[in-house]
This record gives sequence, structure tokens and C-alpha cells, in this order.
Amino acid sequence: MIPRLGVNIDHVATIRNARGGNYPDPVKAAQIAAKAGADGITAHLREDRRHITDRDIERLGKETDLPLNLEMAATDEMLSIALKASPHAACLVPEKREERTTEGGLDAAGQHNHLARFVRTLKDNGTRVSLFIEPVQVQLEAALALGAPVVELHTGAYAEACNAGKTDDAMSILEDLHRAAEFGMREGLEIHAGHGLTFDTVIPVAAIAQVKELNIGHFLISEAIFCGLYDAITHMRELIAGARKELTS
Ligand code: PXP
Repeated sequence: MIPRLGVNIDHVATIRNARGGNYPDPVKAAQIAAKAGADGITAHLREDRRHITDRDIERLGKETDLPLNLEMAATDEMLSIALKASPHAACLVPEKREERTTEGGLDAAGQHNHLARFVRTLKDNGTRVSLFIEPVQVQLEAALALGAPVVELHTGAYAEACNAGKTDDAMSILEDLHRAAEFGMREGLEIHAGHGLTFDTVIPVAAIAQVKELNIGHFLISEAIFCGLYDAITHMRELIAGARKELTS
């Protein structure tokens, strides 16, 4: 099975917010993503609303047909928004105000007591819950103990090592990702992956047999400046599909 592609549209909103107007519109980006064959839309409503806003989340629910994956911090404010919006999926992520992007995975092991209520309440509301974690066994075990059906493995360190030309490091993190995906799926978790992936780095991750969904944003929106969003997404999908074909051939 070819992994689903969730397109993260946060950075369309980043560009819009740079001028405070209403363009470029992340909802329009979601509509183009749908035409280009994306399987879902991912959006991170951050505490400081630096990109996606509450109104964007509302509009994404009404004006696009693709399932929405809401990335959110485990806070009461975000929980009440998620309960109201009832997205198809919610991905719990760690969030620090000063970070440029989500740094590191959620400490599902250390925060078990805090996270349990969020996982349970979202699940009871019919939302598929995932935890964004590092590819480390203790975090997968914590996700299982919390009853989360899905984990998204953080590929940021792998992507950074690739970009820095640190091939040995990248290979070693890739092995961790393989090991985590195998363990997680064996234990009944659905495995997703994402963060920092580009045309150059996506193939080895897409080739991990257990990965069912990839969430990719910043690179696609960046590439859209040069070739358009539709072409950026269709090319990414081709690379993902190609990685899977190689695996089965
Ligand atoms: N998955 C999660 C959980 C994320 O937090 C992000 C970034 O918002 C992504 C995937 C997409 O990462 P990127 O924008 O680097 O492709």
C-alpha cells in the first residue's frame, strides 16, 4: 500500500500573516492539494497563532473535503477547539513558544498522566489520535499504554542529518525509524512519519514498509514558489509511490 500523503499548509498562513491580509489563503492551498491527489490536510493551530488561525480551522472543515489532521499541543484551550471542530484526526505535539518549528517528539513516557485525559477525550469524540514521538521504544510503549491508535515518528533529526551531509548519522536514525515502525506495528499501532522531509529525503522514509501516512509541509510550500503547489505535491506523491513500488518489486 502506498502511504497516504497529508499536506501541511501552515506555511501558506505564515506568508499570509507576514502582511496581515487574507492571501495566500491556506484553504485555497488545501483545495489545490486535494486536486493534486493529497489524502489529507494537516494544520497546526499553535498557541501563539503564528500561522494557522481558529478561523482557518473552521473554514478547512467547511470548505474542503479532505480529512483534517489537527496538530495540537495538549492544552485545555486546544482540546476545547478540537472538540468543537471534530477533525478526522488530531496529532498531539510538544509546543514551545520560542521554537521555530516542533523540536523533538512528545515525551509520552514522561507525561503519561498529563496526556491520558487528552487521548481519551479526543478518542471519545470520534477523533483518531496520534502522538508525535521520537523513534524510541520507550515512547512507543508509552503510546500503547495511553491507548493512542497511531504514532507519528519524528523524521526531523534524519532530515537534518541528510541536509548537513552527515550520512552515517542519517543512516543510523533511519535504522531507528525502521526499528520503531516494526515494533509499533507489531504491537498494533498505525505508523505515520513526518517533519523536514523533502524530495531528496522522502524516499527512504516512504520505503519503510509499516509507514501508512507521511505528513509534509514546509518543503512543499517552499517548492511551490518555484513550480506551483500542484506540481510540488504530485511530484512528492510520485516519489512516495516509487519508493513503495521498489519495495514490492
Ligand atoms: N508532522 C508534525 C507532527 C509536525 O509538527 C509537522 C510540522 O508542523 C510536520 C509533520 C510537517 O513538517 P514539515 O513542515 O517540516 O514538513
